[in-house]
Amino acid sequence: MDKRRPRLGEVQETLLIPLYARAVETRKAHGLLSDPQAVEMVDSLDYDFSRFDGARSLLGANLRTLLFDQWVREFLERHPAGTVVEIGTGLNTRFERLDNGTVHWFDLDLPDVIALRRGFFKDTDRRHMLSASVTDPQWMEQVRGTSPGPYFLVAEAVLVYLEAELVRSVFQQVGEELPGARFALETAASRVVDAQDSRDVLAQVTARMRWSCDNPGALEQWEPGLTLADSRTLAHLPAPVAHRLPLRYRLLLPVVATLRRRDIEAYRCNLFRFAGD
Ligand SMILES: C[S@@+](CC[C@H](N)C(=O)[O-])C[C@H]1O[C@@H](n2cnc3c(N)ncnc32)[C@H](O)[C@@H]1O
Repeated sequence: MDKRRPRLGEVQETLLIPLYARAVETRKAHGLLSDPQAVEMVDSLDYDFSRFDGARSLLGANLRTLLFDQWVREFLERHPAGTVVEIGTGLNTRFERLDNGTVHWFDLDLPDVIALRRGFFKDTDRRHMLSASVTDPQWMEQVRGTSPGPYFLVAEAVLVYLEAELVRSVFQQVGEELPGARFALETAASRVVDAQDSRDVLAQVTARMRWSCDNPGALEQWEPGLTLADSRTLAHLPAPVAHRLPLRYRLLLPVVATLRRRDIEAYRCNLFRFAGD
């Protein structure tokens, strides 16, 4: 099979990390998750994925994916025909895992990523790709104009690559354009961002995290009525996620949470809710 060389900008290249994480886990006999499409995509790309082999961050990426899946799943249980926007989607397969037959779904990323993504995914009547920067509010008008609320936005491993003022402007625009939206995103404290050059996977790519946030609760001040509905580390997963983990991870995570408490606490997954509908 002819492999396709991904032609991606610096930050866009990072999509290959969670993609590879899901593929590696899928190849295991008793992995954290199963994503055969990730395996197919990895196999079809001309890229040296071996540079990420053995990196501890791959486990973190998969735990984060399971947590964000759970938040979207809970939203869809309450709002089966709601709208999910996967911001900075990369080659994410969340729709494949969670489609309930009625959700409206958008996969948004920068143009070179959407061009690559179109080689693997197709638009349907309920699922559309958007070629745009998250910082350009036009996509919000498009989403609001074509799909009903309530809205759930997921930005998994995306906003940390933006400058702080851009992250703040995204929050402001969401508050104006998509009132009542839920917004799932992670925050990396300054000790994580400061140490990124020696972080296993990031040392292998040129993109760098720009936005550090030591206290996600402080973001509530960014928008009137914005609330932090949940905030947790990857070692403190909600029961429905934790119960489905293979036994070795259920035993390992509390130990890691104790031994590396400062590191674990420095990287948080957060669920915000904007004021409104
Ligand atoms: C680490 S990857 C995560 C991909 C995906 N969320 C996942 O978990 O598989 C970061 C993604 O954010 C996207 N991204 C970075 N800056 C962006 C921007 N300004 N607008 C839209 N997407 C952006 C990149 O192109 C890339 O696909």
